Amino acid sequence: MSALPQESPGRILVVDDEINAREALVELLADEGYAVESAENGQRALERMVDFEPQVVLTDLKMPVLDGLGLLHRARKSYRHVAFVVMTAFGSIDTAVEAIKAGAENYLTKPVDLDALSALVARALEKARLSEEAQRLRERLDERVSRGGIIGEHPSMQRLLKLVQQVARSRATVLIHGETGTGKELIANAIHHNSPRREGPMVALNCAALAESLLESELFGHEKGAFTGATARRQGRFEQADGGTLFLDEISEVPLSLQVKLLRFLQQRSFERVGGNETLQVDVRIVAATNRDLAELVREKRFREDLYYRLNVVQLDMPPLRARRSDIPLLAHHFMQAHARENGFDIKRFSDDAMRLLMSYPWPGNVRELDNAIERAVVLATGDTIGVEQLPSFASVAKVDELNVLVPGVTLAELERVAIEQALDACDGSTQRAAEMLGISQRKIQYRLKQWAERAEGESDPLTSSETDEFE
Ligand SMILES: Nc1ncnc2c1ncn2[C@@H]1O[C@H](COP(=O)(O)OP(=O)(O)OP(=O)(O)O)[C@@H](O)[C@H]1O
Ligand SMILES: [Mg+2]
Repeated sequence: MSALPQESPGRILVVDDEINAREALVELLADEGYAVESAENGQRALERMVDFEPQVVLTDLKMPVLDGLGLLHRARKSYRHVAFVVMTAFGSIDTAVEAIKAGAENYLTKPVDLDALSALVARALEKARLSEEAQRLRERLDERVSRGGIIGEHPSMQRLLKLVQQVARSRATVLIHGETGTGKELIANAIHHNSPRREGPMVALNCAALAESLLESELFGHEKGAFTGATARRQGRFEQADGGTLFLDEISEVPLSLQVKLLRFLQQRSFERVGGNETLQVDVRIVAATNRDLAELVREKRFREDLYYRLNVVQLDMPPLRARRSDIPLLAHHFMQAHARENGFDIKRFSDDAMRLLMSYPWPGNVRELDNAIERAVVLATGDTIGVEQLPSFASVAKVDELNVLVPGVTLAELERVAIEQALDACDGSTQRAAEMLGISQRKIQYRLKQWAERAEGESDPLTSSETDEFE
């Protein structure tokens, strides 16, 4: 047996109108370690099933009130994961066949052979558990789909996804901030698809891709003859997105002159087409994204402060991949499966070394870079396992992989310092987020920082582990 947590004993419901037979079966199965309850007919069994939630129902066929087949028909639909085993009198194989057709897992002939019974119950239980497990997996998959294919179990991602659900309900403007490849566009889509406007259009525009004049007419549309080449009236993205969501990617690249118009839209929800006088009113929810520090651009006067505040009603911060390394195996497997499927390859796993490498690399290009690395590895793989040889030679790994180099050979206090410093690095110095990432209190981090600062200032006593840990 593996070291998995012990499963709870199976729950079995015995249904038989003959008291002696019933009690004998109950005793026998209880001796085998199962949790067993009994009922004297199909009707009573249905009642017991509600609370007891049996995984296996072992039922006689001929019973008063509601017989075995009746029970099967009534219970099958609402208890899809319960395995039914019917007991039939010797010679009445027809009813047994009928029971199997009605969805029974198997049948036993009476008088019941005890060895056969115990093997059959064990198998039925296994079947019921597999069925439950499959259902759980399906539910997790469904959940993933409703999250728009966003993978992330790390607390920072869980928090983000919860926030996404919350903000999706309103029309509030959202600013998504994060490094390249962290999934900003994915989140923008998730906001739309979880919002009441999900049936409406989701329109995206990359503000960095177009020259100023083009961007303006792309956003607001233009009238016929508004400029050379404007041979017909054209709808802009705002109009196209009416009733839905407009995703403005790389919002920092909108030129100052256009920022004014954008601001006006956010304030009044109205605009004019280029070269037009008619004021148009649309119902559009704006989601913007940037990998730049907009506050910094505001200080540099390259981004309007008033627009910044209008956009920043809700800000979502995408955690970089290196700040949620525990998600790397999940993502890596996801991409491996996806690319293997695309290519029709049979690739099943990563070697331990390969996974260690993936876990220690800092991923400056975040999830996109991981995706690309895995795609390449899938194409290069020779067997069913991706090894280190197929991964890019991450030049900087040796430098970053400090933890692996360190352990063993350092004290816990030194390790703690590495962990805290790297966590702070990963979340731009926010002690609150670093604390969450490390699962310790914010005060503890602040206390340590103070300690280290004091030490650096004068006394040079080495890190010791005799410090009092009043925060644990
Ligand atoms: N949490 C995630 N789960 C699964 N796939 C992800 C996740 N995050 C990102 N990806 C994938 O990584 C790639 C990059 O994501 P996306 O385009 O959303 O990033 P971005 O932040 O918009 O990047 P950029 O700033 O470069 O535009 C996409 O292929 C996306 O599907
Ligand atoms: Mg993007």
